[in-house]
Amino acid sequence: SERSRVLSGIQPSAGSFHLGNYLGAVRQWVALQESHDAFYTVVDMHAITVPQDPDTLRANTRLSAAQLLAAGIDPERSALFVQSHVREHAELAWIMNCLTGFGEASRMTQFKDKAAKQGAEGTTVGLFTYPVLQVADILLYQAHQVPVGEDQRQHVELTRDLAERFNARYGETFVVPEAYILKETAKIYDLQEPSAKMSKSAASPKGLVNLMDEPKATARKIKSAVTDTETEIRFDRENKPGVSNLLGIYSNLTGVTVQALEEKYAGKGYGALKTDLAEVVVDFVTPFRDRTLEYLDDPATLDKILASGAEKAREVAAPTLAAAYDKVGF
Ligand code: ADP
Ligand code: NA
Repeated sequence: SERSRVLSGIQPSAGSFHLGNYLGAVRQWVALQESHDAFYTVVDMHAITVPQDPDTLRANTRLSAAQLLAAGIDPERSALFVQSHVREHAELAWIMNCLTGFGEASRMTQFKDKAAKQGAEGTTVGLFTYPVLQVADILLYQAHQVPVGEDQRQHVELTRDLAERFNARYGETFVVPEAYILKETAKIYDLQEPSAKMSKSAASPKGLVNLMDEPKATARKIKSAVTDTETEIRFDRENKPGVSNLLGIYSNLTGVTVQALEEKYAGKGYGALKTDLAEVVVDFVTPFRDRTLEYLDDPATLDKILASGAEKAREVAAPTLAAAYDKVGF
């Protein structure tokens, strides 16, 4: 078709998605299906750049796929697949590795951050070449756009550089993609440390809204979110990060503007806001979680969806790889 293509991936390593993953990424992937041919992948090959227990990885990969389906990724319209099911990713990554400068790869800031945390002995070569595997993920599908957070911009730049380098050296082969930066307004912060973004590596589990938790536990987390010593419900990211985060979550989940929420809660206390927001979040997570569990309870159906997703992916990936093999002289 003439629609432009998007490719995006999500790591299975945490298993459950958190509210930031959903509002900041997955929900926008769902919306992009309306206007684009979409390829969405659970990137289990990226996950093993740090140690994973095999059974846990397998379970988390399925859980991630089930959550994407529960969120509204439509396998009839989009290709939803597991990265390791499509061998072409590893094969194109090798070619891309041979096109990437060591210094160029060394400049990737995400690698530098992660390597600093792991230490030299704990850092794998896989972690080092992770951005190059990501390049292959994107180029295999001739994607025009790559929906990512701001933190991934450098990796999309590397993708563009390598696509252009390959095309210049061997002849026109790859679409040079663009970053489609996901809405910054959908950024969600930690409930206990609202100056930090909500992350699976949160300091305290109380700060993280895990979408697969019991809805009651989630309601309690919202109600015990950190606010401030004032009483006014007002959006002010700098001086009132906790309250602003609650308003942001509320607005993102309901579509009611932050301004309308400020008016609604004028003269009311933080307790009222938290009680209502807890209900809004529970109303979202309950059916989301139920749908996810239904997919997990029916492994044959989930297998079928993922097999057909991999097949759809390979229809595009195989000819792209074949062209690249031919160009380099294989
Ligand atoms: P984490 O930060 O928990 O490790 P990932 O890095 O695996 O999450 O992110 C997966 C996707 O979710 C990315 O597209 C990322 O931009 C998005 N994302 C992660 N955390 C947030 C957040 N707090 N708010 C908005 N989007 C987020
Ligand atoms: Na992260």
